[in-house]
Amino acid sequence: MKPGTPSNMLSKHSIAISHQKGSTVLLLKAEALAKNMHLSHVLPAKQEEFNTLLVYTENGLQIQLKHDNKTRKPVTLHVDFLSESLNYRRRYGGGIKQALARAVGIKPGIRPTILDATAGLGTDSFLLASLGCKVTMLERSPILAALLHDGLERAAASHEIKDIITHNLTLVQGDSVTFMISDTKDKKPDTIYLDPMYPHSRKSALNKQDMRIVREFVGDDTDADKLLVAAIRYAQKRVVVKRPKGAPLLTGDSPAHVIKMKNSRYDVYMI
Ligand SMILES: C[S@@+](CC[C@H](N)C(=O)[O-])C[C@H]1O[C@@H](n2cnc3c(N)ncnc32)[C@H](O)[C@@H]1O
Repeated sequence: MKPGTPSNMLSKHSIAISHQKGSTVLLLKAEALAKNMHLSHVLPAKQEEFNTLLVYTENGLQIQLKHDNKTRKPVTLHVDFLSESLNYRRRYGGGIKQALARAVGIKPGIRPTILDATAGLGTDSFLLASLGCKVTMLERSPILAALLHDGLERAAASHEIKDIITHNLTLVQGDSVTFMISDTKDKKPDTIYLDPMYPHSRKSALNKQDMRIVREFVGDDTDADKLLVAAIRYAQKRVVVKRPKGAPLLTGDSPAHVIKMKNSRYDVYMI
């Protein structure tokens, strides 16, 4: 991943980089990231003065907000492919029978190559990679891409999931529409997966703290229709769009079929 995006393109938040007190390794990482992202590096003693920080800690790179918009309490967010909840979903989430797997075209003996054009915190990518698909994750927010990069690095050092990370997951930072329009590779992905940010009023998204924080940084993905148009031209076999239950289609095109879940659905477009 090559960050290097000017700070004024990062988000509506003004953000600085810092590190946990007492570690030279974390200090060096924070300094390098600040340089790469053209952001200020703040010493631990000054952290109190900032509302929004990206901090290298013993648990990885974290977004730290002084006040969550909903709870008004301090809140942190980081990418953890080793978390208990992901571990549980990887082991007991239904395997190739789960809705996500069926939507992208996983079948016994078939593992499509996947471009996740809205990587976010990488949860869906990771689950698909753990089912055996080769997944390329694309994320346009430099902050989220930095969190993903850090999460991948830490997970690659774990005995349990390092093979999934090193063999099946690749991260690219950038805009997916630009990527799909300008990529001339012969080997295009079988499936393109799209999970743009839900419309603001959706209760389900607002109640999930992680996605609420992500929204603070990336907004509402109001240009998501362009993703579908580009994806339908670029995918070899299918495009899958995750939508909230009851949300309108992303564009005027109708999906070939729909997989319904409790609060959301997958619209599946066959090529
Ligand atoms: C709802 S989140 C995706 C959550 C993800 N499925 C997960 O499992 O964590 C949507 C993400 O898509 C990203 N995104 C939206 N449009 C994009 C585009 N054109 N190119 C790259 N990333 C995009 C946003 O920055 C945001 O991080």
